[in-house]
Amino acid sequence: MKKIITGVKSTGSSMHLGNLMWAILPFVKAAKGNDAAIFVADLHTINSVKNGKTLREQTREIAIEYFSIFGLDTPINIFIESDIVNLPKMSLILSNATPYSLMLRAHAFKDAEAKWTDVNMWTFNYPILMAADIIGYDIDAVPVGRDQIQHLEMTRDMVRAFNRTYGVEVFREPEAIIAEEVATLPGIDGRKMSKSYDNFIGVFDDDKTLKKRVMSIVSGSEGIDEKKKNPDECNIFNLYRVFATPEQTAALRVKYESEGIGYGYGHAKAELLTVLTEYLRPYREARTQLLEHPEIVEARLAEWARVMNARLDAMMVRVCDVVGVN
Ligand code: ADP
Ligand code: TRP
Repeated sequence: MKKIITGVKSTGSSMHLGNLMWAILPFVKAAKGNDAAIFVADLHTINSVKNGKTLREQTREIAIEYFSIFGLDTPINIFIESDIVNLPKMSLILSNATPYSLMLRAHAFKDAEAKWTDVNMWTFNYPILMAADIIGYDIDAVPVGRDQIQHLEMTRDMVRAFNRTYGVEVFREPEAIIAEEVATLPGIDGRKMSKSYDNFIGVFDDDKTLKKRVMSIVSGSEGIDEKKKNPDECNIFNLYRVFATPEQTAALRVKYESEGIGYGYGHAKAELLTVLTEYLRPYREARTQLLEHPEIVEARLAEWARVMNARLDAMMVRVCDVVGVN
């Protein structure tokens, strides 16, 4: 049984199908049989969302979405980063063993420096808090996207530097679990589904929005009695295959490849809408229920935060002991 953890920033407010299929559900798979935690990295988000009310709402929304998908009684620990009292202290102590030259190499920092005129110190320090988020709980492995590989390498460098400085093995080097290359999920305009392109279909969209999004998927222009373009190149088909059973997908393929059957892209969209509605129904219903009982979500978040606070505090005792502070 491994201890695994991952963090998600609360920059956006709602999860889309791309996040669900290629990040969240694979995390659930990696979590099976392991001691797994996922947290909303709100402290990591303060440098991009500079409105307290918005950040708080987005953080709560993400937590509720995780509970809706994993279930309220999931063994996966869902918590909020800023509930961990000693995390900033851990981060501060860790910064003492972090070379400036290492920090200067961070791609995320270099990108920020190129984009903004006066980058704040938080952006510079970001990888240290991220390292504390991981090694503070004595983690074995971290499922992350490719863009986070360097942060994981920096974490390992910090572990080595700290342990070398004090001559004891206090922290362990976490390994990264990089999701295998998967086919990207197309958005309604055919580009990669992404928040930034505004071409996404939300996991928690209401019926009306879901229908509007599905009906606006860009498709070919072949008529109802013409053979459709190659299904593998069609956005509707490529979304359908991810959510339908293999039998349903095979049946839709036959329709695409037939002529004179009076079947058009509008029909394919309607079939996609049906499959998606069914697929997402349990998640949407779970969220609706949780929204009616925010106190249950709060209680569960508090419980999980207690567990993670205890873990971090246990590590803190060892760290303070070797560093010589209280
Ligand atoms: P966005 O592009 O919407 O900002 P994020 O970068 O927040 O998405 O995505 C978080 C994770 O969700 C990524 O690491 C990736 O694994 C997964 N993901 C997002 N969109 C897609 C997509 N269209 N196809 C496959 N995976 C995706
Ligand atoms: N930096 C990560 C991102 O931008 C979020 C994050 C913060 C994280 N702390 C973490 C991810 C710890 C994994 C482990 O996506």
